Amino acid sequence: MTFFIWVFMAAINTLFRYFFLYNGNTSWDDLSEMTPAEIKAQDLFPMGFRPLPHSKHSSGGMVFPQDQIDNMEKLEDRDLERFDIEYDLPSHFTPEFPPPIYLTTRPDLGDVSQGKVLSIKNYYELFKGVLTPVQMEGMRLLLTPFPQQQFNQTEDRKVREPSLGVTCLDCHVNGHTNAAFHLNPDTRPQAARMRLDTPSLRGMHNQQIHGSKRSLRSIEDFTEFEQRSAYFDGDHVTAAKKGVNLPDRASQVAMMAQMQNILDFPPAPKLDSAGRLIDEKATEQELRGEDIFFGKGRCAECHPAPSYTNHQMHDLQLGRFYDPEKISDQYNIPDGPIKSFTLRGIKDSPPYHHDGRLLTLADTVEFYNLVLELDLTQKEKEDLHAFLLCL
Ligand code: HEC
Ligand code: HEC
Repeated sequence: MTFFIWVFMAAINTLFRYFFLYNGNTSWDDLSEMTPAEIKAQDLFPMGFRPLPHSKHSSGGMVFPQDQIDNMEKLEDRDLERFDIEYDLPSHFTPEFPPPIYLTTRPDLGDVSQGKVLSIKNYYELFKGVLTPVQMEGMRLLLTPFPQQQFNQTEDRKVREPSLGVTCLDCHVNGHTNAAFHLNPDTRPQAARMRLDTPSLRGMHNQQIHGSKRSLRSIEDFTEFEQRSAYFDGDHVTAAKKGVNLPDRASQVAMMAQMQNILDFPPAPKLDSAGRLIDEKATEQELRGEDIFFGKGRCAECHPAPSYTNHQMHDLQLGRFYDPEKISDQYNIPDGPIKSFTLRGIKDSPPYHHDGRLLTLADTVEFYNLVLELDLTQKEKEDLHAFLLCL
């Protein structure tokens, strides 16, 4: 008898799922009750959790948000607007522009940007008396335009006006990010290359590996190789033709790296020196969120305090949830090992993950709830979200 009741209940359950889930009515709770294999079999893994294609995946290359394009036109008369592609995310999903700048060397000053977008024209006046001559020279180089695959003075370019190229801080604006994107240089064929959302350069001093896939071990290496690899899609032949600029390791790269290494995380007034919430300053909800982060949510296993990264690459094994397919010229294979990015100051750098597929922090909470099979309640998700905002 029990067996028949069990079969009956199982049949009702399947019918219920078939009816509700296949009709586009799947809720987050429905999904979190299913196993990865069930989600995969019914193709229910949200499209927004799968790799995001470049807005023109077959050509790729750097794409800048409108704020950056407008500002560089005004400040330097330099054209960053491509004629073949438009930036594809609404501006409310991109970081505050221009972002504030904090320095490890002068915490007493707070934001030193004066609300401006740093450029080769104004950096000296802004930083005189605040930076050493070495840091100042590093800053100058980070703001000097160099040719790149799409932005250069040859006929083979993707910009209307002959372009002087791009600067490091065209993407890492004010040492942070404006969510400019391009394709990673490390993967082939073209369809399998990953879209890359620009990460912040804040807090580089407390991170030991760099790049989603490259895992370069120093800021010096990344600075040297950004122009060798990412600027020209890892193609040294076109690089030579378009005028690659390879900064000198001893005299230039070292100074650029020293400058990057003093860009601090934004202040987090609710955290103590070990990176944990201060009881008297945090709300009940934030404290509950902290417990989830370090407990049931398992976040701290890969994002431990105080820098909220374990300096490792991890494979979230998304292949458990969906079968890869080719969409918009992109082959959306599971990501494999990726740097577990720091979560310090995370509220300031949407969109999230290496390709920016998760538009808000609330999306990342739903993503991890599903991918790590956490079974968080709605209230627990809200608590965790409140804690992430304190970082
Ligand atoms: C098109 C915009 C763009 C430009 C221009 C650019 N970057 Fe980046 N930068 C990125 C992206 C995207 C990544 C992420 C790379 C990855 O995940 O592999 C990155 C990563 C980095 C990292 C590692 C960050 C981390 O969290 O691991 C450093 C350091 C860096 N860039 C420095 C520079 C320097 C120095 C320059 C100038 C020589 C520069 N970038 C120019 C977009 C840009
Ligand atoms: C197994 C290791 C692991 C665990 C556990 C983990 N993460 Fe992550 N996290 C990663 C990796 C790897 C990335 C980078 C993924 C990518 O870019 O594709 C990441 C990225 C993120 C990002 C985006 C960072 C950015 O700069 O875009 C957020 C937010 C985040 N994790 C929050 C969480 C939360 C909240 C939890 C707990 C519920 C959690 N993570 C648990 C490994 C982990």
